[in-house]
Amino acid sequence: MKKILYGLYIVIIIGIIICIVNSNIFSSKNGKAIAAGEKIYNKQCLICHGENGKGEGKNAGTAINNQQYLNTVNDTDIFNSVKFGREGTGMPSYGPRLSDEELNNVVAYIRNWQSEEINFEAPKTIAGNIVNGEKLYNLYCINCHGEAGSGKLKMGTALANRQYLKYTTDKQIWISTAYGRDGTRMAPTLKGLDGVRQLQEKEITDIVTYIRSLER
Ligand code: HEC
Ligand code: HEC
Repeated sequence: MKKILYGLYIVIIIGIIICIVNSNIFSSKNGKAIAAGEKIYNKQCLICHGENGKGEGKNAGTAINNQQYLNTVNDTDIFNSVKFGREGTGMPSYGPRLSDEELNNVVAYIRNWQSEEINFEAPKTIAGNIVNGEKLYNLYCINCHGEAGSGKLKMGTALANRQYLKYTTDKQIWISTAYGRDGTRMAPTLKGLDGVRQLQEKEITDIVTYIRSLER
């Protein structure tokens, strides 16, 4: 009996050791990617996206460290934003300059700013009225995002941008519009949240349908 217990202890202890070693290998690998990504970020991106992604660097760049942004995009979305950039805006395409491995390291660094898990509610299907959406857009969004989503430097991003629309789903546009982004000029829009705009879900759906229609 004692021998069996003794054997059991050994098995358990070996199991625990394997777990610890494994988790260390895992986290140090991710730690290396984050450290490498931080170096690239500070050299290439900080000038526009600011320290730790808080936005408003020396040159115009959005805040990419807020929890709303980080919770609406997955790693592939961030990767695509950086690799393909946004033609005609301040955001260059890094495809020609950084390898996929370097891009993945930058993504790991950006992801490491996420401190919360938020599950944003959005309608299952987003298909609304374009004409009403345009009307609402011109009332509530045009001041910052420009005519027909053309963007305004340091005011609002170019929502009609080809790369933006290609790599962003309707649901993501809906969530960004409804919930806004903490610490930026992009306040929430959904009725009941504490933004200046108080729009119904259906109205946000109309606006998103309009924005999607701007895709060229
Ligand atoms: C007061 C200025 C302002 C107004 C008004 C405004 N936005 Fe924004 N919006 C911004 C800024 C600035 C950002 C970028 C925030 C950041 O730094 O991450 C943004 C980001 C967004 C994004 C995410 C875009 C991206 O590049 O990831 C969407 C979608 C969006 N706004 C939609 C809207 C819609 C739709 C309206 C109208 C209902 C609206 N916004 C009104 C300033 C504004
Ligand atoms: C010259 C300034 C500039 C540099 C350098 C720059 N960016 Fe940007 N970036 C921008 C601007 C401006 C936008 C928003 C463009 C728009 O849609 O109007 C943006 C958008 C983005 C977005 C999409 C954010 C969103 O709200 O959807 C990501 C992610 C991003 N940049 C990451 C990076 C990374 C990573 C680097 C460095 C490898 C970098 N950027 C370098 C200016 C810059």
